[in-house]
Amino acid sequence: MSGLELVRDVAGLRARVAVARAAGQRVALVPTMGALHAGHLSLVELARRHAGFVVASVFVNPLQFGANEDFGRYPRDEAGDRAQLARAGCDLLFAPEVTTVYPPGFATRVEVAGLSEPFEGAVRPGHFGGVATVVTKLLVMAAPDVAVFGEKDWQQLAVIRRLVADLDLPVEIVAGPVCRDADGLALSSRNAYLTADERARAAALPAALRAAATALAGGAPVEPTLGAARAALLEAGFASVDYITLVDPDTLAPLATLDGPARLLAAARLGTTRLLDTLAVAPGTPPA
Ligand code: PAF
Repeated sequence: MSGLELVRDVAGLRARVAVARAAGQRVALVPTMGALHAGHLSLVELARRHAGFVVASVFVNPLQFGANEDFGRYPRDEAGDRAQLARAGCDLLFAPEVTTVYPPGFATRVEVAGLSEPFEGAVRPGHFGGVATVVTKLLVMAAPDVAVFGEKDWQQLAVIRRLVADLDLPVEIVAGPVCRDADGLALSSRNAYLTADERARAAALPAALRAAATALAGGAPVEPTLGAARAALLEAGFASVDYITLVDPDTLAPLATLDGPARLLAAARLGTTRLLDTLAVAPGTPPA
């Protein structure tokens, strides 16, 4: 049977973490918004390799959703999440109420300038302020030794690494690779929004990134290659492409030429669903 414990309050979380520490265990935190899938569970497994006591948080953070975004319909399945976390060997689920994280009078925001501004930040104003605020709170609440995030949200990962460095938070950030379905689509809780027809078309996104990464690795010029990827997505039935870009993996500065390790970042809309993806690119090294 499951050894998964559940706490909803900060005092309970801290008390349980203190017991683990007193027993000599390192503590890992895997922050999530629930609706868990195999990608999240791979992060729990990665956390387990870094710590003896693994905490997952499930909190659909209202602060990171814009007024016209999907906060209301974001998938929620606490019973399913608990069962999956138990099977994955997670020790503790922290599932706070909104008023626990943002009590009446809450007035503080964490903003990471620069890295938060382009790409997702430009399309979703305020999004990264909400992410940075809740991640800071979760790190202060749980005080883990290690926190694990997915590489799929590459810009989010860069923002979190920056805030941890800037605020001297004593936590190691560990990144887990993108998990994909058999046809290459990156796993995401929002894939649940796709109709059957959209789900079939969605594989065009990873396919376009792989084709671009292969071409770039072989020396193709950046702008025409990105243009061809954009055209392939529109041809496949995507309604629009918010961005498809080649960036420095750390600074996220756009690159006009490929001279070293880089990242493709893309976001595109299929029906009413926004899909994100990312792929590493390096000169002379096509994707595996
Ligand atoms: O990536 C997510 O699921 C969320 O943005 C996070 C990091 C849990 C913060 O709410």
